[in-house]
Amino acid sequence: MVDSKAWNWKMLKKEDEKIWKEPATESYYLVNRWKMQGKKDFLDLGCGLGRHTILFAKEGFNTYAFDLSEDGVEKTKQWAGQLNLKVDCKVGDMLELPYKDDSIDCILCRNVISHTDTKGMEKITQELKRVLRKDGECYLTLGSKNTWGWKQDWPMVDENTKIRVEDGPENGIPHFYADYDLILKLFKDFSIEQIHEIRGFYGKGGSYHYHVLIRKN
Ligand SMILES: C[S@@+](CC[C@H](N)C(=O)[O-])C[C@H]1O[C@@H](n2cnc3c(N)ncnc32)[C@H](O)[C@@H]1O
Repeated sequence: MVDSKAWNWKMLKKEDEKIWKEPATESYYLVNRWKMQGKKDFLDLGCGLGRHTILFAKEGFNTYAFDLSEDGVEKTKQWAGQLNLKVDCKVGDMLELPYKDDSIDCILCRNVISHTDTKGMEKITQELKRVLRKDGECYLTLGSKNTWGWKQDWPMVDENTKIRVEDGPENGIPHFYADYDLILKLFKDFSIEQIHEIRGFYGKGGSYHYHVLIRKN
C-alpha cells in the first residue's frame, strides 16, 4: 500500500482559501437528509480547514473532525472554538479510523478518500463499514478516470493510481481514479443509494468526480 500523505495547507494560495472555507453545495442537502433520518453522530472524514465540520456542528450534529494534516485539524479546532462549537478533533490516517465499531451515523468524505491506492481504497471501505451504524450513510467523492489528472504523465502506482505532481498543496499525494464498474465493486457490501458523475470547471479543463452515497445494511 502506498504511504499516506497529508495536504500541505500552508501552500494554499490566498485566493483559493475561499473555496475551502465555504461548504460544498451537496452538504446542505445532506444536513437536511440526515436530520430527517434522525442521524446524530457526524464524521467529517478528511476535514481539511473544517468547512463541513462547522456547518454540521452549527446544525446540532455531534461532530467529529478528522484529518491527517495537523495544520488542517488545528485550523478546524480554532474555527470551532471561535464559534463556541463543541467538536471532537483528531489527527490520523483514514486507513485506521480511531472510532469504535458501529459508532457513527453519517460521514462526509469529500475529495479525501481517493488520496490512496487501490489497496488503500479497499482498506478504507472496510473502515467505513466498521465505524458506521446499521443504516448509517457515507457521502464520498472520487476522482473519475475522465478527469484531466488521470490523463497526466504522472508516476503510476497501480492500474488506478497516480502520484500528483504540482506546485501546490497536493504535490506528491497519491490519487486513485475510479470508473463506474470499479465503484460497484468497491462498495459491493453497501447499498449504493446514488452515483453521479459531476463535471467541475476549475480552469484546468474537464474535472470529473463521482459523487457516491452509500448505506450500511
Ligand atoms: C481536498 S482536501 C478536502 C478537505 C475537506 N473534505 C473539504 O471538502 O473541504 C483533502 C483532505 O484530505 C486529507 N487527507 C489526505 N489523505 C488522508 C488520510 N490518509 N487520512 C486522513 N486525511 C487525509 C488531506 O490532508 C486534506 O485535508
